[in-house]
Amino acid sequence: MEKTFLMVKPDGVKRGLIGEIISRFEKKGYTLNRLELLTPSVEVAQSHYAEHKEKPFFGELVEFLTSGPVVAMEWEGENIVAVSRLMIGKTNPLDAQPGTIRGDLASTMSQNVIHGSDSVESAERELSLWFATEASHV
Ligand code: CMP
Repeated sequence: MEKTFLMVKPDGVKRGLIGEIISRFEKKGYTLNRLELLTPSVEVAQSHYAEHKEKPFFGELVEFLTSGPVVAMEWEGENIVAVSRLMIGKTNPLDAQPGTIRGDLASTMSQNVIHGSDSVESAERELSLWFATEASHV
C-alpha cells in the first residue's frame, strides 16, 4: 500500500491544529503508521528542503521549520500521495481552495500548517530522513 510523509509544521502545532489535521486524514480512511512530535535539527530541515537550496527563501524556510515542535507522520492508503496533496491544497493562499487544509486554515505562503510529499519518490526519501531508525519507531 502507498505511503506518504505528512508533517504538521510549527505554526500548526502552535495554533492547536494537530487534532484537526489528523482527523481529516482519519476521516478520509487513511491509516496513521508512525507519529513523532519533535523539534527538527537544522541538518534535517536542510536535507528535507534540499530541492529548495538555491531559492531566496531557503534560509527562512529552515529557520521556520526548526523554530519549534512539528508532528512528523507516516500515513498509508490508496493513492495517498496524490490525494493527500489535493486535501492539503495549493501553497499560494490565493490558489488554495476552501475545503482544503490550507484553504481553510492557512493564510500565508511560508507558514502554511502542513507539508505533504509531492511524489512517491519524495515520500520514500522523506520517510527515511524523518524516521531514520526503523526499529525504534515501530
Ligand atoms: P512545503 O509544501 O513544505 O514545501 C516548500 C515550502 O516552501 C512550501 O511548503 C512553502 O511553505 C515554502 N515556500 C514556497 N514558496 C515560498 C515563498 N515564495 N516564500 C516563502 N516560502 C515559500
